[in-house]
Amino acid sequence: MFHPKGPSLFQLARQALSSTIDGYDLLADKFEHTPFRTPDLFVDVLVETALRGAHESILDIGTGTGAIPRGFLRERSDSKIIGVDYSKGMLEEARNLTRSEFADSSVEYVLKNALDIDYENQFDVVTCSGAFGHFEIHEYEQLVANIFRALKPGGRFLFLTYPKPTKANPAYWVARGFNIAMHVRNLVLDPPFIMFYLRFTVEQAAEILWRHGFEVRVEDPDVKLHRSLRLVMATKV
Ligand SMILES: C[S@@+](CC[C@H](N)C(=O)[O-])C[C@H]1O[C@@H](n2cnc3c(N)ncnc32)[C@H](O)[C@@H]1O
Repeated sequence: MFHPKGPSLFQLARQALSSTIDGYDLLADKFEHTPFRTPDLFVDVLVETALRGAHESILDIGTGTGAIPRGFLRERSDSKIIGVDYSKGMLEEARNLTRSEFADSSVEYVLKNALDIDYENQFDVVTCSGAFGHFEIHEYEQLVANIFRALKPGGRFLFLTYPKPTKANPAYWVARGFNIAMHVRNLVLDPPFIMFYLRFTVEQAAEILWRHGFEVRVEDPDVKLHRSLRLVMATKV
């Protein structure tokens, strides 16, 4: 559907009828060829920003097939990198892709729900890409608290997101329509598939991050064709 090596419509439908974790397990070997994988242009922004400050230890949350850890390895970063995900299938794919691209890598891929991580003062940088829409709104408090705890003092939580679009923007209505369809799907079908747009927008994220003690800076990363994309740099002060 997206790419000759990507999932068929039937495979996407099976994924949508599964739980979020099972859905990713089913999609794992095709994931690299879907638009859900963070594009390398975005990965590069996160990696370059991380490498401009302390970056000895890095945690990537919702690492999927390891797009971000592999981005660090491509820059020959000698950081100690841990990628966390709750889909076994995605992590298997991440390990395979990392091994085939980099003979000698020390990236550690850990099977864990981001809401259950208990790292303390361990990382210079935490990244997360493409996973925010898979959390319920009330779960952001736990997610952000876990990230704050995981960072060393002065450590940075780096991610890309968009401002909430105005109602005059057709993208707003497309996203709202998708979200309504997902709410209806989850009312009639069990297990739920948690995937929503308009989540962890610049405004929503900044408010939660400030409340948890982060200092927040927002920049325009100047990515072609993504004029409203914003880079959020939240520092644990
Ligand atoms: C759209 S993919 C993005 C993967 C990768 N970060 C990328 O950008 O290509 C979202 C990933 O987040 C993972 N994920 C979602 N919620 C999670 C949670 N609560 N804990 C751990 N992983 C989670 C999914 O399993 C999936 O691999």
